[in-house]
Amino acid sequence: MTGLLGQPRVHLATLPTPLQPAPRLSAEAGVEIWLKRDDLTGLGLGGNKVRGLEFLVADALARRCDHLVTGGGPGSNWAMLAALAARVHGLGATLVCYGDRVPAVGNTALAALVGTTVRFTGDPDRTSVDTGVETVAQELRVLGRHPYVLGRGGATPVGALGYVHASVELAGQLAAVGVGPRGIWLATGSCGTQAGLHAGAHWQGLGPVTGVTVSRPVAECVERVTALSAKAAERIGVPPPATPPTVLGGHLGPGYGHRSAEGEAAAALVARTEGVFLDPVFAAKAMAGLLAAAARGDVTGPLVFLVSGGAPTLFTTPPLVS
Ligand SMILES: Cc1ncc(COP(=O)(O)O)c(C=O)c1O
Repeated sequence: MTGLLGQPRVHLATLPTPLQPAPRLSAEAGVEIWLKRDDLTGLGLGGNKVRGLEFLVADALARRCDHLVTGGGPGSNWAMLAALAARVHGLGATLVCYGDRVPAVGNTALAALVGTTVRFTGDPDRTSVDTGVETVAQELRVLGRHPYVLGRGGATPVGALGYVHASVELAGQLAAVGVGPRGIWLATGSCGTQAGLHAGAHWQGLGPVTGVTVSRPVAECVERVTALSAKAAERIGVPPPATPPTVLGGHLGPGYGHRSAEGEAAAALVARTEGVFLDPVFAAKAMAGLLAAAARGDVTGPLVFLVSGGAPTLFTTPPLVS
């Protein structure tokens, strides 16, 4: 199908996801917060990556590819959802994880359940995935297959369209409840989600988008979001964002994939006040960043916070590997 953005798109998500007021959280934070529930997108246990995969799988099918190759850590939400989306649409799937082989639990077990091949690079460096996926793709080509290769996180201009589309959905929901947001907050990892929102929010007049980085340095995120958002906007023929993206550092805690004390406290507050679980790797740390900014008096509401999913990692014992 082609939809709103005039781009090929397969159906994976149950949309729109709810936009919910969070009155008890807002009272504790001292700023009005609304929750955009993208943990409820459906496909597997849901999450932000499902939106981008609607465009990426459509692109793979349009290119007549028969196998999706991507990767990440053994706990990667992205990798599992990419494999699941591929399988649902009749493609094979291979995931490449960095590090040594570990028992299949959490996201890796869920990927294996649907017949995904999972390989390990044997190298703890996260970037070893990037060469690993190319190696697998080459092996598949030799066998006469047509691989669709995606880097960690699926952060491409096509993948970013998922959150350009989400911005249109969000703009409609905000208008329906008469809320003019002063900003949108989310967790930023590979930057595709923020890039799509940055482009879409500019297009739809939704105010600045603040990404709290949970893995990469701030400058690298700014560069990636700027480039991806401009390319996504160009793809659909809307003006590129006029301002640079805002990326906030300082909330990584002990490292990517590790729980942080302030993230755990933020997640506990959101669960206690609103009955919503934030994953420890991404959204918990982003909420910690938002609560800290509110405590400093740096933000005014109403704000929208993206609950981005990651349910499988709620049950993983630390350290998590994403
Ligand atoms: C639950 C969750 N939230 C947020 C993100 C960050 O999204 P992005 O990689 O597009 O920056 C991810 C990425 O995997 C995720 O799994």
